[in-house]
Amino acid sequence: MSAPVEDFLPDYRAQSPAVADRFRRLKERPVVLDVEHLGRQFAGNDGGIVTALRDVSFRVHRREFICVIGPSGCGKSTLIRLVAGLEQPTSGRILLDGHEVHGPGPDRGMVFQGYTLFPWLTVKRNVMFGLTMKGMSLSQADSEARQWIDLVGLSRFQDSYPAQLSGGMKQRTAIARALAAQPRILLMDEPFGALDAQTRCQMQMHLMEIWRNVDVTILFITHDLDEAVLLADRILVLKAHPGEVQELIEVSVPRPRHADQFTAPEFLATRRRIDELIHPRTESAVEKLPIVRLTQVGDDVE
Ligand SMILES: Nc1ncnc2c1ncn2[C@@H]1O[C@H](COP(=O)(O)OP(=O)(O)OP(=O)(O)O)[C@@H](O)[C@H]1O
Ligand SMILES: [Mg+2]
Repeated sequence: MSAPVEDFLPDYRAQSPAVADRFRRLKERPVVLDVEHLGRQFAGNDGGIVTALRDVSFRVHRREFICVIGPSGCGKSTLIRLVAGLEQPTSGRILLDGHEVHGPGPDRGMVFQGYTLFPWLTVKRNVMFGLTMKGMSLSQADSEARQWIDLVGLSRFQDSYPAQLSGGMKQRTAIARALAAQPRILLMDEPFGALDAQTRCQMQMHLMEIWRNVDVTILFITHDLDEAVLLADRILVLKAHPGEVQELIEVSVPRPRHADQFTAPEFLATRRRIDELIHPRTESAVEKLPIVRLTQVGDDVE
């Protein structure tokens, strides 16, 4: 029998001179986000302590697209909430453009999985909301909002209400609203997690297109290995209990990216490495499940 295709994959760290040069230049860019020895503990239900994150350190450079991946409960949402300033760290600190984060601020835009639009406002009013809150006049906010709505391809729907939009359109509006405030970093926690596979794929392509056209750094949480490899410059792999950095992987798949690359050797090699880290080979849990017979005598089937 011939060897499986995976045996012929390149080392996931292998980089052509062009890719090595891309990462060298990326690391020369200014640091936007600097996470230093970050730790976060919670009180557990049993009176003990849950260590959600321990000693997490990494840096994100200007206009970098970084994905965070890891098993459920490894602290991904905790990490993004800390960067957003919605929670305070137990230890360590977070610097944004060199300034320590102590709370939420307009320098961070957020897009989460649940649709967070105001249902009583139209698409345009949702996008204008933060702008008028900042003190911008209605007419200026209106024209700014139109530009962002154009960028996410929703011009025809600017007067629609969220209930009249598909899931993908709602997330486009949320992206437009987050970008309208011109944040230094866009924080996205599984933003496409609730979308069907086809819409999700369209949104991934659309987000990459937006990111090519807008000077913004992106921190993107996902469960989906393919999504991480498709989108990211680098992937931060966390492990669970406690949530610690396992590896920071440079994705050598060339840009611009597209779905055809799912079968490219460097794509598969990177994906396999993340899979090894997140699902280490142990005795299969499925094999340990007891066999439960629901059939009766005489019902036996092959
Ligand atoms: N407010 C809280 N109080 C107590 N424990 C919490 C709190 N928030 C998170 N935790 C715990 O911290 C750990 C990390 O949770 P978190 O939601 O950050 O994980 P996650 O990686 O985002 O998971 P998922 O992939 O399922 O979204 C979990 O064990 C969770 O139970
Ligand atoms: Mg989460």
